[in-house]
Amino acid sequence: MIRFLTAGESHGKALVTIIEGFPSNISISKQYINRQLKRRQAGYGRSTRMKIESDSVQILSGVRFGKTLGSPISFVIENKDWANWQELMDTELSIKLNNKITIPRPGHADLVGIIKYNFNDIRNSIERSSARETAARVAAGSVARKFLEGFGISIGSYVESIGGIYSSENFLSRLIENKELKKKSRLDFSINADKSSVRVLDQMQEKKIINKIKSAKKNGDTLGGTFIVVATGIPVGLGSFMHYDRKLDADIAFNIMSINAVKGVEIGDGFTSAEQFGSKVHDDITLGKNDFSRSSNHTGGIEGGISTGLPIIVRAAMKPISTLSKPLTSIDLSSMKKVQSRYERSDFTAVPACAVIAESMLAWVIAKHFLLKFGGDSFEETKDNFTSFTKKSFKRIQKGFRK
Ligand SMILES: Cc1cc2nc3c(=O)[nH]c(=O)nc-3n(C[C@H](O)[C@H](O)[C@H](O)COP(=O)(O)O)c2cc1C
Repeated sequence: MIRFLTAGESHGKALVTIIEGFPSNISISKQYINRQLKRRQAGYGRSTRMKIESDSVQILSGVRFGKTLGSPISFVIENKDWANWQELMDTELSIKLNNKITIPRPGHADLVGIIKYNFNDIRNSIERSSARETAARVAAGSVARKFLEGFGISIGSYVESIGGIYSSENFLSRLIENKELKKKSRLDFSINADKSSVRVLDQMQEKKIINKIKSAKKNGDTLGGTFIVVATGIPVGLGSFMHYDRKLDADIAFNIMSINAVKGVEIGDGFTSAEQFGSKVHDDITLGKNDFSRSSNHTGGIEGGISTGLPIIVRAAMKPISTLSKPLTSIDLSSMKKVQSRYERSDFTAVPACAVIAESMLAWVIAKHFLLKFGGDSFEETKDNFTSFTKKSFKRIQKGFRK
């Protein structure tokens, strides 16, 4: 069973990731991880922090000559702005602060954090609840992604909407109708989304979204949006209906929802399936040469908590960023009086970044269920187990049911 831990405060010295459970002999490089970290930092509407800090990982352990050893893998991502925060975030010195933060921002973790942990400075809530932590997750997800690539599994994403602006073309319905990705494991749409400053697939939509972000900025406001994450090349049989916490769809929903500011997750048709007749939602089963398939993919690649072999399609919603310069009402905890909320350096929207983080979390969940199913202490052993199952499972069914 793979697992990972992250540590580090938003303005602390560094972020740390420790990963455990991957087999040996997976090729992985610093450059590969840095590419994913860079994708996480992109997107029009981010704060100036993205400009001063371009993330770069150091691999501390678990990798030798570019291959995993099977031992715990650890990474460090330094915060490049640390020099400016050193005194404020010191682990030992106790300086007398004249600038304690006393006004909690509505929608953020500020107030709940200080009540739960009995802090007397909101900075203590802000630092760990910040989405800065997701850089460490992307580093972990990069190992999962690289591992899965060895089995022909690709993961990509695009932004569907920001601030309610959708493309005129409904690309999601093409994915669901199974027309877009048939037999393709390269996700061209995600490569195209990488080229857009807001991760969309349609230039007209991009223009409209950028204008909307500009107007949000001007008004001291922020925006959220929706995005789609897709994994292709998935074998049948990841996940299980044998127990509630082994269901692939449940695990995906948990992991995507764990991303800061994500407030909704759907698999396949999701909420719209509730409005349809069953005949419009369930995918006809078809027979290929050596496998079963489906004529469409309304279930988003999962039935009964188990992967069907079709692409896994996840849609998620991110709420607007909660730090606004447009005043909202709050309470100053030093006077217990009603005041306007405070502002600090912040993104105006981060939906494109959120989609990339979701790719990493999806890669992680799939790698977890892949290793639960196929096991192996070395990459080669996992590959043997995988090949044996994918080659033989259909034939076994044919034989078992033959009259
Ligand atoms: C990539 C990314 C960047 C974010 N940037 C900010 C930000 O600059 N300012 C902010 O107030 N919230 C930001 N958020 C959202 C907060 O982290 C989140 O709202 C907060 O942790 C409270 O958690 P909740 O919204 O899940 O309840 C960001 C989220 C993500 C995924």
